[in-house]
Amino acid sequence: MKQSYFDIVSNTALTDNVYKMVLRGDTSAITAPGQFVNIKLEGMFLRRPISVCDVAGDTLTIIYKVVGKGTEAMSRMTAGKLDILTGLGNGYDLTVSGEKPVLLGGGVGVPPMYKLAKELIAQGKKVSVILGFNTKNEIFYEHEFKALGADVYVTTVDGSYGMKGFVTDALKNIDYTYFYTCGPEPMLKAVHRASATSGQMSFEERMGCGFGACMGCSCKTLTGYKRICKEGPVMRKEEILWEN
Ligand SMILES: Cc1cc2nc3c(=O)[nH]c(=O)nc-3n(C[C@H](O)[C@H](O)[C@H](O)COP(=O)(O)OP(=O)(O)OC[C@H]3O[C@@H](n4cnc5c(N)ncnc54)[C@H](O)[C@@H]3O)c2cc1C
Ligand code: FES
Repeated sequence: MKQSYFDIVSNTALTDNVYKMVLRGDTSAITAPGQFVNIKLEGMFLRRPISVCDVAGDTLTIIYKVVGKGTEAMSRMTAGKLDILTGLGNGYDLTVSGEKPVLLGGGVGVPPMYKLAKELIAQGKKVSVILGFNTKNEIFYEHEFKALGADVYVTTVDGSYGMKGFVTDALKNIDYTYFYTCGPEPMLKAVHRASATSGQMSFEERMGCGFGACMGCSCKTLTGYKRICKEGPVMRKEEILWEN
């Protein structure tokens, strides 16, 4: 974990309430797709955890949805510096993907799939990406994933774009060797049930300290309690115990 200051390079709206922020600073502690950063905001005690969407040299990209006080404050920032903890969380293990991994992202679970897709494609893997949203106006990053060379499928719950339904509906038509996913918990549960292979899922749970000290994020697994922020946020399909 590293604490440092990043300069805000840009902060642009992708949809009505989802923003992409590009930052410049010391990214050396970020070692795997699926890790997250924890951002300190003026006047707020708890940092806000946001997944790494992309890293290239000293440039870090994050994508966030405005849901409350912190993300609303972020959406108004155009310049300046942010105090950020980097190198948090375990990230996805790419060594087990097989030749045809499928990546499923739902809503703000889409961003961490980007860096993951980029790295798997760089390794020569045939990557399929399923992006799930409620409706057409919420869609972002479809073209960015296509530009990487992934086979991209979009689902919308109301059928206003792409396939009508959930990411699991699109999954039925794909030939894959392994899955990686991130999204709201009901989606993770559905993917857990519907998937035909092993896989890994990232939990975007509520967090306190963000670096393993408060136990505020612990969840039960087959091998005992784990802290989402420290031993996660990525868990293997086989170790997950759903509590309800
Ligand atoms: C590992 C991880 C990765 C995440 N990645 C992303 C991402 O890439 N893009 C994105 O839009 N969102 C992401 N989230 C969710 C994001 O952290 C929350 O939406 C954000 O903290 C809300 O802050 P707020 O002040 O706007 O909302 P408020 O509801 O006002 O926040 C109040 C408090 O609750 C906490 N909180 C609220 N919702 C969440 C939540 N879902 N998860 C964790 N803490 C929460 C805040 O940190 C804060 O301490 C991620 C969460 C985790 C744990
Ligand atoms: S948030 Fe404090 S231990 Fe995970």
